[in-house]
Formats: sequence, structure tokens, C-alpha cells
Amino acid sequence: MTTHPVFYNLFSDDRILHAVATAFGGDTGTLDSRRFPDGESYLNVVDNVKDKHVIILCALDHPNDKFLPLWFLANTLRELGAVKIGLLIPYLPYMRQDCRFNSGEAVTSRYFSRLISELADWMVTIDPHLHRYAALSEIYTIPCDTLHADVILAQWIKGLGTDTLLVGPDRESEQWVAGVAHQINSPYVVADKKRFGDRNVSISLPDIAAYSHCTPVIIDDIISSGETLIQITKILQKSNQRPIHCAAIHGIFAGDAYERLVKLGINLATGNSIRHPSNQFDLTPLLIEGVARHLSFPSPLR
Ligand code: R5P
Repeated sequence: MTTHPVFYNLFSDDRILHAVATAFGGDTGTLDSRRFPDGESYLNVVDNVKDKHVIILCALDHPNDKFLPLWFLANTLRELGAVKIGLLIPYLPYMRQDCRFNSGEAVTSRYFSRLISELADWMVTIDPHLHRYAALSEIYTIPCDTLHADVILAQWIKGLGTDTLLVGPDRESEQWVAGVAHQINSPYVVADKKRFGDRNVSISLPDIAAYSHCTPVIIDDIISSGETLIQITKILQKSNQRPIHCAAIHGIFAGDAYERLVKLGINLATGNSIRHPSNQFDLTPLLIEGVARHLSFPSPLR
């Protein structure tokens, strides 16, 4: 096996791929892919990957559309002789259905983890939605590295240059909010959220009157329908006159979520795990760190 891996990009930002590949002196591979007139996929791996360690960077938001191309690519690489396949999946989907909330429901987090575990030898991801699972190893059977964006979020919030009140919109968010608050020495509160449907959430917040001099910064892992953020922003706007910021790691912005949030006047900042105009945090250093662990290289960032 050659020392330097070959990196492929599926649905992700080429700049991230190049930055990661350059950090390891790796090559970026070329794919010839298109759709047949009937919608089926055509794929051709242009490079020679025999005996190579290959790494696929894949933006897997909207996974129903993107998983099959990933599956085809991994199988092709394997058949062409790649000895190891690593996955960089900055945003890991299908993590929120982590139990059978109502009888008969599919626990899709488990089924999806089986598919990914079958197609690769290792995976690196950033802040997956770990709520009822303590670690990915509970459902994934390949080595998985989970990197955390807390330091990056903390630096961004510090850059606002103002006294802040960090706000977690639900109990799950406390893991991120508390960690970031500790790093920048900021007070924080966590709301109580009840979800009654995809776009139906109700939120109650503890009294924040004592923090009227602070700029509220909502911290969350995912913005999906945007409903969580919309509800908490409305509450904050009633009790705090300052501009409201939200720092979220993964911005999916389903449907018209982004437009609705912009209309509310909230300042949005997201990580570049999913390409979006609100991207303000570069998560590439975390991916480099994760790859270093799997290639047994010292991290080029240190
Ligand atoms: C909840 O469990 C997550 O941490 C996010 O708060 C949630 O996924 C956001 O979803 P939505 O934008 O659809 O309210």
C-alpha cells in the first residue's frame, strides 16, 4: 500500500477536499459521473486506486439522494483494488431517530449505521447528534472518530466582542452550550423544548431578566426545519432588545427555513459541513485531525 491516500469528493466543497489532501500530501481523485436519462447513476473512477488507501469526503445532508452514489463509489473503489476506504462525513444524518418513540416506527439511526459500516473501514464525523446513544460505537461497527466544533464556536463567539448569554434551545444542546460557555467564561441558560411534530415545537426559557446587558447567542448542533430556532428567537426578542445570534454546527435549512429565520432578523452562523451562505466556521481543521488519527500520521496542524 502506498503511503499517501487518494481523496475523492462527493457533494462537498472542493476547497475542503484540497485542504485536507494537501495536509497529507495526498492526491485528489477524479470521478466521471452523470445520470442516465432514466435517472440512474453512471460512475467511472478515472484513477488507478489499486493498493491505495482512499478517503471519500461526502456531504451527506439529504441522505436519501446522496447515499446511493456513495454506495456505488465505495463499491467501485473496493472492486478496483483500494485496500482501505475512509469516510469523512462532516454532517452525519439519520441520528435523530434514535429510539422507537411510537410503536411501529423505524429506528433509522441503527439501519443507516449498518449501511455505512458495510461500505467503509473507518469514518470521521463532526458533532453527530448523540442524544440517546452515548457514542457512535453503540451502533456503528467500524472505527468512528467524533470531532468537536466547540473550540471553533467559542472563538467565533469571542470575536463578537461583547458580553454574551449563551442559550441552548433544549436539553440535548446543553452538551455544546455548557462546554462553549466554560471556554469563554459566559453565562448560559438551557430551555425546555417539547416537540409535537416536525414543525411544531413549544419552548420555555428560564427568566433571563438579569442578563439584559448580554447579547443572546443561541447554540445548537443542527438547524433543520428551523422551528426550534424560530420559537426560541421569538421568546428572546420579547425579553432582550439586543441583536440575536445563532451559532449552529450543521445548517440544513429545510424548505424555507433560512428565509423565515432571516425575516426574524437573527444573525446566523453555521459550520461548512453543509455548504450554505450562512457558513462562517471552517471545520476543515477537525477533518484533518480526524484523518491524521486514521493514517497514523502526526497531525500536520500541530
Ligand atoms: C434537536 O434535537 C436538535 O439539537 C436541534 O435542536 C433540532 O434538530 C433542530 O431541528 P429543527 O430546526 O427542525 O427544529
